[in-house]
Amino acid sequence: LATHLGLALFRQGLTVLQVYNRTPGKGRKLAARINALYTDNLSDLVPGADLYILAVSDSWLGQLVSRLHLKDSLVVHTSGSVELEILSPVSSRTGVFYPVQTFSKHRKINFRDIPICLEAESPESEMKLTKLAERLTRSVYLLDSGKRGLIHLGAVFASNFTNYLYSIAELLLRENDLPLNILEPLILQTARNVRRGNLFENQTGPAVRGDIQVLEKHRRLLADHPDYHEIYELISKHIILNRSLNGKL
Ligand SMILES: NC(=O)c1ccc[n+]([C@@H]2O[C@H](COP(=O)([O-])OP(=O)(O)OC[C@H]3O[C@@H](n4cnc5c(N)ncnc54)[C@H](OP(=O)(O)O)[C@@H]3O)[C@@H](O)[C@H]2O)c1
Repeated sequence: LATHLGLALFRQGLTVLQVYNRTPGKGRKLAARINALYTDNLSDLVPGADLYILAVSDSWLGQLVSRLHLKDSLVVHTSGSVELEILSPVSSRTGVFYPVQTFSKHRKINFRDIPICLEAESPESEMKLTKLAERLTRSVYLLDSGKRGLIHLGAVFASNFTNYLYSIAELLLRENDLPLNILEPLILQTARNVRRGNLFENQTGPAVRGDIQVLEKHRRLLADHPDYHEIYELISKHIILNRSLNGKL
């Protein structure tokens, strides 16, 4: 995220003064791309910046905040699931800047369409972050930590889990010398159907049809993959259950 955010800020003509990263190879590379200074030492952070962005792994954030003291500078983290209060030991002015998107370092991303969820300790900080976010995107949401956590949970189901399911499909096809791109139009159409809302209405497949023979056949095909079999059973069970709750059974 630090790479994508750094590049997006730079492209908007904003000055990124400095990049911190414990790994010089990575940090120097990003700093050079966005015309910033680089440090691998937290005590060398440039003081008095308008904003400090902590785009680090959630597990390290807790340790990082005990080592950072930035007085009254505005400091944000970028996590979907971590409370705003975690930043209280760092500064009196704190916020959250959470872009709802999946970022991989080498995949190009256009920030214009990415929703950014903001939270801040005061209306002044909220205003500052809103102005910044609006330089990057058309879609800005002011949400407290509880609501942001729910958006993040939704994102895990909608993106992280579906990607894992794609990877299972990829493996099953590859094992049989079949290319994943046979499924690509299906994957893209399924994503496009999301715009229609009422998503369970879009559900197709053997479980929602109650097609027992096909379910049995798929179970047999998964005999060598007990883990995938378990996932198949669980999701099919829930689709069948949901189908009966929705009065389709
Ligand atoms: N990726 C996404 O799709 C995405 C989307 C929205 C929000 N976010 C949020 O953005 C934040 C960063 O996520 P990410 O996906 O960019 O994570 P990431 O690619 O794993 O990068 C984590 C960063 O934290 C640093 N770090 C981890 N442990 C450290 C330690 N013990 N000491 C010093 N540095 C350490 C890593 O340094 P090294 O480079 O040296 O390993 C790296 O720079 C998280 O809060 C995440 O929830 C991510």
